[in-house]
Amino acid sequence: MIQIRFIAFDNSEQTLLAETGQSLMKAAVDAGVTGIDADCGGTLTCATCHVMVDEPWIFQLVPAGQDETDMLDFAASPVGPGSRLCCQILLKPELDGLVVRLPASQY
Ligand code: FES
Repeated sequence: MIQIRFIAFDNSEQTLLAETGQSLMKAAVDAGVTGIDADCGGTLTCATCHVMVDEPWIFQLVPAGQDETDMLDFAASPVGPGSRLCCQILLKPELDGLVVRLPASQY
């Protein structure tokens, strides 16, 4: 199990413990994290699982593919250097302590 912190736009926090080997989106949805809508269920067609990964962690991730980058253009809130679609982030042991921020809105 690894620990992940979600920091909402209003700075409220939700922390969860998640199994590795699944996507960050699935872990968040299963735990009921507010602000991860994931309407497409992880098929990379909705951009409602947008998160901003804190800088120290962004380098631990496999870089976004072109499909993810293209879909981020449809995110409702502004994207930045740490923006990712969390259905494309595979949880692995090295991500224990991961911190991600949620956009103001997914719509
Ligand atoms: Fe739809 Fe990630 S859940 S793009």
